[in-house]
Amino acid sequence: MTILHTPRLRLEPITDIHYEGLRALNTDPAVMRYISGQPETADETRRMIERVQGRWRQYGHSWWSLIETESGELVGAGCIQHLGHDPANPHEIGWRLRPDRWGRGYAIEAAQRMARFAFEDLEAPLLCAICDPDNAPSARVMQKLGMRYRGEETWHARPVSVYEIDGAAWAARERA
Ligand SMILES: CC(C)(COP(=O)(O)OP(=O)(O)OC[C@H]1O[C@@H](n2cnc3c(N)ncnc32)[C@H](O)[C@@H]1OP(=O)(O)O)[C@@H](O)C(=O)NCCC(=O)NCCS
Repeated sequence: MTILHTPRLRLEPITDIHYEGLRALNTDPAVMRYISGQPETADETRRMIERVQGRWRQYGHSWWSLIETESGELVGAGCIQHLGHDPANPHEIGWRLRPDRWGRGYAIEAAQRMARFAFEDLEAPLLCAICDPDNAPSARVMQKLGMRYRGEETWHARPVSVYEIDGAAWAARERA
């Protein structure tokens, strides 16, 4: 299980110690608005933590809690996982932040580090991201990451915008 660091955040693979912070995050209507549209139940949070720990063991990547170094608080979560949770599919990157930490650049800061982990450590050839077509703040993070819009597709039984970047494009941006 890989801990990652950025200037302002520590990315810790999700475990039981993050339960309370994840409850606060995943029951916030503003956070869940474009994800499931409803707050996660306590039972769902517990099962999510178990599932995520299983994926860390099986694949060596999954969800991290984003810990703000200065305060030690859990201020968000981010992931590298398989699109559609199917290992035959390309890797997907994702993020969510506590609303009181929006507008500080934390999402792009975490995203850049997670993308580097995907390309350099996992040697992923391609990284995708999906969001609700109305989720402009999330699409903005994808664009800032250098991803290009691939189109609208159906994932998790919902129409979503899909963005992607390949390893060559990523490496060129890193060199620039
Ligand atoms: C998607 C989400 C994580 C984006 O959060 P965010 O705070 O807008 O994104 P960032 O952390 O990258 O911050 C970007 C803004 O912070 C501001 N900012 C302030 N200081 C900054 C810094 N040091 N570096 C970069 N940006 C900074 C900028 O104005 C920037 O906006 P702009 O470049 O568009 O003008 C957030 O809206 C969220 O959690 N939404 C709910 C969950 C969700 O929908 N997740 C995605 C599911 S697909």
